[in-house]
Amino acid sequence: MTASTYVPPVLAWISGLAIAMPGAAAERPTLKDAFRDDFRVGTALATPQILGEEPESLALAAREFNAITPENCLKWALVHPEPDKYDFEAPDQYVAWGEANGMFIVGHTLVWHNQTPAWAFAGVDGKPLDRETALARLKSHIDTVVGRYRGRIKGWDVVNEAIDDEGKLRTGPVGSWPRRGEPWHAAIGDDYIEQAFRMAHAADPDAELYYNDFNEWYPAKIEAISKLITDLKVKGVHIDGLGLQGHWGVDYPTLEEIDHMLTEYGKLGVKLKITELDVSVFPTLDQPTGADITRRERGRAARNPYRDGLPDDKQQELAQRYADIFKLFVKHRDKIDRVTFWGIHDGQSWRNGWPVGRRVDYPLLFDRQRQPKPAFDAVIGVAR
Ligand code: XIL
Repeated sequence: MTASTYVPPVLAWISGLAIAMPGAAAERPTLKDAFRDDFRVGTALATPQILGEEPESLALAAREFNAITPENCLKWALVHPEPDKYDFEAPDQYVAWGEANGMFIVGHTLVWHNQTPAWAFAGVDGKPLDRETALARLKSHIDTVVGRYRGRIKGWDVVNEAIDDEGKLRTGPVGSWPRRGEPWHAAIGDDYIEQAFRMAHAADPDAELYYNDFNEWYPAKIEAISKLITDLKVKGVHIDGLGLQGHWGVDYPTLEEIDHMLTEYGKLGVKLKITELDVSVFPTLDQPTGADITRRERGRAARNPYRDGLPDDKQQELAQRYADIFKLFVKHRDKIDRVTFWGIHDGQSWRNGWPVGRRVDYPLLFDRQRQPKPAFDAVIGVAR
């Protein structure tokens, strides 16, 4: 950490230095500097932010982070809504902003069962999607999107969430119980992941390529993801990294589970990235683990206790939790090369709408006014 003179706000106030507060933001250490010797610290940019509707958020992102991921605008449904129609307005601005601000620019995501339009999964003449058509469609999409940003988007989440919670490859229609649906697998077969990585590598041989998933600490998933990556490497498929989403909560996964999974994945010989970190203040009692975006919880889980603010004890609990998590990231810094938060500030977070709709959550390091929270100070405090 560089700014050794930094005084956490509460101490500044106690010692009567609060008059310096307007200048405090400038004095404050930044996340990217605090962890410069450990890993990049990134954030996801929402489409309105990319389009310039929240200049203060972009300014904060430029100051704190050195990597960016688009929260939505490069997903198939957004960038390629119709067979012959691409929409590159937001992605073009995203990449241009990233370059202007010295960011490591990530692309998210090429192959996924969610946020992909129905036409992409439709077969010819009303028949189920066949292998040749599916492969041709994937290739055309990957060539167009990866090719457009060749040399500029430095890393791609190629395949997202291919493995279910029991460690099996998802297959079948989207939304089918038990929510394993993966139409790309159903149409192409087991090699669809390999094919997608080969296509992405051909479209930009210099781009880093990643596999990305959630609930990554489940023992069945550790086994299945490790096997997937090992098999790809044995086949000579180009893969650089494993993305661990990190949509976690105050009490899950346990620190032992995080430590264990980082140790296990660390043996694979690919760089690990925490790709979508947010820590919900709600415990597992109130919600499932994971990040299945089609899942909606009702009833008991729909309580919304913090709509008017987060009590101090909960704020401290979150801060401690973030500190504990970052201690583990630093411990495994030789294997982790990026930690990306899924958003800049709490007001933007998808956790306000998932898995319980319209419930106020506080999962990031900056509050709705874009001010650093106790969790920010706790994370900075972990930096060596
Ligand atoms: C989420 C976005 O944050 C939301 O805005 C969108 O409505 C749904 O998707 N796993 C992923 C991300 O890989 O792309 C998802 O992002 C969250 C779960």
